[in-house]
Amino acid sequence: MSNWKRFALVGLVVLAGCRPSSNAPPASSAPAATPTQALWGDMKPVVSVKELMRDMLDPASDYIFDAVKIVTTNKGTVETVPKTDEDWEKLRIGATTLAEGVDLLKIPRPFAPAGDENNSKGPDATELSPAQIKAKLEKDPVLWNAKIEALRNVGKEVLEIVKTKNTAELWEASYNLDQACESCHLQYWYPGDPALLQRVDKQLEELYEKGKPPSKAKKP
Ligand code: HEC
Repeated sequence: MSNWKRFALVGLVVLAGCRPSSNAPPASSAPAATPTQALWGDMKPVVSVKELMRDMLDPASDYIFDAVKIVTTNKGTVETVPKTDEDWEKLRIGATTLAEGVDLLKIPRPFAPAGDENNSKGPDATELSPAQIKAKLEKDPVLWNAKIEALRNVGKEVLEIVKTKNTAELWEASYNLDQACESCHLQYWYPGDPALLQRVDKQLEELYEKGKPPSKAKKP
């Protein structure tokens, strides 16, 4: 076979491959559920919830908390708001990571690395143990999912703000973000007694009023 014929044949095969075969259903109506589910089913956690917080959700949230803040020192007050494209890009990276990444909390995973009991023992214990957190979640998985959804929504809110570059809305979103982190932590991580909860809330409020970035979900 001459070279040009071989070339033409290859061309034909490629063309045929591109055309949908007439008796196959259009791609959109193909039963996509099965392969997708198999893919999700393949998802296995690499790290614990604690590590996912420390190494992914917490750093991602800093892109947002650090973007809008007022820092007061004895030298005066410095307000930070996003100005350059690069500033907004950081916000987008943070928001995308949060909005998508928070769903990784739906994959069953240990709450802490093996052997790490959190600060759950002794008189100064403020945190629940991983086993206690797990029991709470299993008792009411709907609540856990609602907390995930709440954070996802703030991520989406920030993504919208990045499109419009509305700095005023960003202050509010940063506050909402802090609330979304805290409201899950107060349920599952360090519930404490009502007085403690109140103190945390008050601290958060004051921090916010001072215009500092919200406490960013650190323990009281
Ligand atoms: C759906 C619930 C939930 C949401 C939402 C959530 N967290 Fe957490 N977070 C937890 C739990 C549970 C722990 C405690 C895990 C453990 O120590 O066993 C934790 C722990 C942490 C820790 C401690 C990590 C360490 O190394 O000790 C940090 C920091 C943290 N979260 C930051 C955040 C930030 C910032 C946000 C919001 C952007 C957030 N979390 C949103 C559930 C949540």
